[in-house]
Amino acid sequence: MTRISFAMMEPHSPLLRYRREIRPFVPFVIPIVKTVESWYNTNVRTFRSRPCTRRNHFWDMCEMTAKQKQLGAFYTPEAMADFLVGWAVRRSDDIVLDPGCGEGVFLLTAYHRLCQLGASAAQTTAQIYGVELEQRACERARDALQRTSGLGAYDLICEDFFQVFPDLLGPPLVDVVLGNPPYIRYHHFTGDTRRRALKAAERAGVRLTRLTSAWAPYLVHAVSFLKPGGRLAMVVPAELLQVDYARPVRRFLLDHFANVTVVAFEERVFPGALEDTVLLLAESDGQTRGLRVVRLQNLEGLADLAKELDRLPLRCECIGEDKWTRFLLADESIDLYESLVERADVRPLDELAAVDIGVVTGNNDYFLLTETAARWWEIEPRFLRPAAPKARLMPGAVFTAEEWATLRDTGARSFLLDCREEPRQAKQHRVWRYITDGVARGVHKGYKCRTRSPWYGVPGVRVPPAFLTYMAHEIPRLIANHAGAVNHNLIHGVYFEDDQPEAVALRVASFYNTLTMLSAELVGRSYGGGVLKLETKESERTQLIEPADETTRQHLLTALDQIDAHLRRRAFDKALAIGDAILLQGQLALDEDALRQLRLTYHSLRGRRMSRAHSNT
Ligand SMILES: C[S@@+](CC[C@H](N)C(=O)[O-])C[C@H]1O[C@@H](n2cnc3c(N)ncnc32)[C@H](O)[C@@H]1O
Repeated sequence: MTRISFAMMEPHSPLLRYRREIRPFVPFVIPIVKTVESWYNTNVRTFRSRPCTRRNHFWDMCEMTAKQKQLGAFYTPEAMADFLVGWAVRRSDDIVLDPGCGEGVFLLTAYHRLCQLGASAAQTTAQIYGVELEQRACERARDALQRTSGLGAYDLICEDFFQVFPDLLGPPLVDVVLGNPPYIRYHHFTGDTRRRALKAAERAGVRLTRLTSAWAPYLVHAVSFLKPGGRLAMVVPAELLQVDYARPVRRFLLDHFANVTVVAFEERVFPGALEDTVLLLAESDGQTRGLRVVRLQNLEGLADLAKELDRLPLRCECIGEDKWTRFLLADESIDLYESLVERADVRPLDELAAVDIGVVTGNNDYFLLTETAARWWEIEPRFLRPAAPKARLMPGAVFTAEEWATLRDTGARSFLLDCREEPRQAKQHRVWRYITDGVARGVHKGYKCRTRSPWYGVPGVRVPPAFLTYMAHEIPRLIANHAGAVNHNLIHGVYFEDDQPEAVALRVASFYNTLTMLSAELVGRSYGGGVLKLETKESERTQLIEPADETTRQHLLTALDQIDAHLRRRAFDKALAIGDAILLQGQLALDEDALRQLRLTYHSLRGRRMSRAHSNT
């Protein structure tokens, strides 16, 4: 083939890609640098005492934030430390430990609290203990205690906490464990540290999987330093309430302590960290048993809560290691929700369908092609499959063949390369030129590609009858796949037992109602940025209402177009109102009050999640 022009003929040329994809963004980079800098100066400065100026300290700052991430070192605001220390330290002779003390905010607050309760400065040197891995932070904590008390004999251990055991501390056991364990996700929490962490948790009787983040074994190990009757007061990720890997931690807390309180916030309260955070208070000696989850708007509510916390009721029934997200709801809302999901015509999605992740290509830039590229390489149509776009490009309840064609015509990567023939056969087709080009570009050396044979054969390519969004901002969506498109790993495929078009349309229409949405909020995970993430296993626990009779079925089928139209206009409440009328009021016979309560409950939970996208602290 003769080359006509550089621009037209080299759709994958690095230079062309640079011109098209990178150069247009260069003018935006400078403002981004400035924004990051100002964010650093406002939020992270506590980690270094001086502000960052662009010329001298920008890279310095990047290095520190990377290190912060590696150590999970986001320091606690004073208002949180005051509240936790005020609740946990109750007597002048209490002995306290912060097992990752950073620059010592908890230790200093504990010092003031102990003095306020009657301890002398000298006594506190035998009552305040800290462990910290980072030498400089540990020295700062010691300096701060020394400056404040005028005494230098505080026992701060600069060591990996997972290598510290009660016999290494001055007193083997303490009355109060305080702190804010490092938040290090499993993919950074590796090697010897993780091995030691899992072992330490196991020694305390909790078996955690390798998918755990650092805070979970940290918390469990920290509890093994508590005297019988001791108290735990910590800042922990809201993951405690919702992730599967934290199930054994939830069980452990319920078994180990008489009562457990979790304080959650509507706004994001932790400067610098993206993770949603809660406060955990647990005591072994409490008169009353159970679990309570308290919701506050922001840190300002802590002062009042401190006065009334002990009077707030604890929930004793139906608590276990299953997600605690539902305890964010008022008791009557939990009861209403549970009475509905116990009905025979309300069924978890996994009884009706299997949810699966989409194809993992190993290199989307290579395996997903535009029509121009597919034509230029003259790839045979039988090696190309229509590929689903990102969820935001499928805004309705149905993804049609026409929508896919429009995306294709506007230059989206709408074809998946699907050639699983052995090289001997593949060589005989035009697609081989593209495969050879992949080798020249080193695509075959990528992790996924080099571990499969042939390297270009993407496994598991199948067309799901419907898609389910994986990351949702407003509401999760079940989308009927009328385009015959294959899904990538950013949108799930849903395979119904009955995958006839009418049966799928019925399931899709029945997905849009307040009960199903509430169940998705409860089983999914909400992230700091306001996103609701539904992993496949979690999404299989969303609750669907099974249409009970022919009239309901017909109503739903007729309503699908209208639901679809509302979703496309982002009129989510209107879409849900249709499902509510047919399924909740019609079939489940919910009265006005119950429906109002269900909606309020749903909106409060969804609003809580979404407020994280807007709050700027
Ligand atoms: C989230 S910060 C909390 C610091 C301080 N307690 C506060 O609340 O401001 C977690 C601290 O744990 C420390 N850290 C991380 N991994 C550690 C380990 N394995 N052993 C001891 N300290 C560790 C970090 O350096 C960091 O100072």
